[in-house]
Amino acid sequence: MDIKQLGYLGLSAREPDAFTTYATDILGMQRVAGEDDTTHFRIDDRHHRITVEASDRDGGAYYGWELADADALRAAMDELSDHGVIARQASQRELEIRRVAGMVHFLDPAGNRVELFHGATSGEGEFTSARDVERFITGELGLGHVVLASPDVSAQQRFYTDVLGFKISDTMRTPFQATFLHTNPRHHSIAFVDGPFFGIDQPFLHHFMLEVPDMDEVGRTYDLVLDREVPVTMTLGRHSNDQMFSFYAESPVGVHTEFGSGGVLIDDATWQVTEIPGPDLWGHRH
Ligand SMILES: [Fe+2]
Repeated sequence: MDIKQLGYLGLSAREPDAFTTYATDILGMQRVAGEDDTTHFRIDDRHHRITVEASDRDGGAYYGWELADADALRAAMDELSDHGVIARQASQRELEIRRVAGMVHFLDPAGNRVELFHGATSGEGEFTSARDVERFITGELGLGHVVLASPDVSAQQRFYTDVLGFKISDTMRTPFQATFLHTNPRHHSIAFVDGPFFGIDQPFLHHFMLEVPDMDEVGRTYDLVLDREVPVTMTLGRHSNDQMFSFYAESPVGVHTEFGSGGVLIDDATWQVTEIPGPDLWGHRH
């Protein structure tokens, strides 16, 4: 199947208002009114890219991967069923909350809720950052990336490549096992890291990444994080594989956020998959 991009991300929050303040005042997203116990966040032309749902738990709730159209979604369901994966149709309510024309969902081997969709709705008017972020790098590259920690990185890699059609960007064995996957030129839209290394046996969303065009915007956001005493979980640094200049902070839902600039793009015609010796060229101290 031909997944185009990471279209949207759903989070669960015990304190959605705290996440809203963080997402707008610190990260610069635009809050968009939601339904009942949901709040949406806009970062580009789309109605929203991130949704937070009030819950009795914190963390990643669902991951929305975009397909070209209804035919592609039907074909994807057939492919899933050939692999023994039964995808369920979204309810009308789920379609309304996500603002998409069609969606099916299933669980990956670690138990994460994967959603395949088509027909995203555009937002009204221009994206207007809650502070002064000019724009985020999205479009056909998707909203950014997600990094999921799970006990069995190899099983996740097999499922996402063999069944969902992602391509390997690179892998890492030390200091922890990781696999980085792409589905468009963005270096990785999803990566899997070894959960037990991080001291947690349950699958969890380690972080999501948002990218801006300007390195100074990363620096200004870093200053803001320090001024507001948000916990910095990794200092400024540059990743060895996607070359992202970024830092990590802990959001009020426990999930870390990576805010970065300068990520490389992959051309499948020339890209060589390698095993990288470590995650960072410099920095990212924790
Ligand atoms: Fe990242």
